[in-house]
Amino acid sequence: MPRMTFVSADGKTRKDVTAQAGQSVLEIAHANGVDIEGVCEGSMACSTCHVIVDKAFYAKLPKPSGDEADMLDLAFGLRPTSRLGCQVVLTDSVDGLVVKLPDRTVNMMDV
Ligand code: FES
Repeated sequence: MPRMTFVSADGKTRKDVTAQAGQSVLEIAHANGVDIEGVCEGSMACSTCHVIVDKAFYAKLPKPSGDEADMLDLAFGLRPTSRLGCQVVLTDSVDGLVVKLPDRTVNMMDV
């Protein structure tokens, strides 16, 4: 089973987990108590699942779709390697994937 690591927004806490290949980063976060919201449950309608992918892994992932890129534009703290956690799928080819949580996400009550 591939592994991945979640890093807290302040960089002080790391959580290493294993998951089934084919699970999204959002699904893996929820299964392991990592605080990524994911309000729309993966239908690309919220951006609350925003994560910042480690540079070493970003290029190994399939490119974001146009819809994902549009939704990312609404995320706070956008970085060059930002992705929607619901759209990033853990596979053996990105074993060891590292993602950092953003400082904050869009509060859906403010939208
Ligand atoms: Fe809403 Fe990913 S969970 S866009």
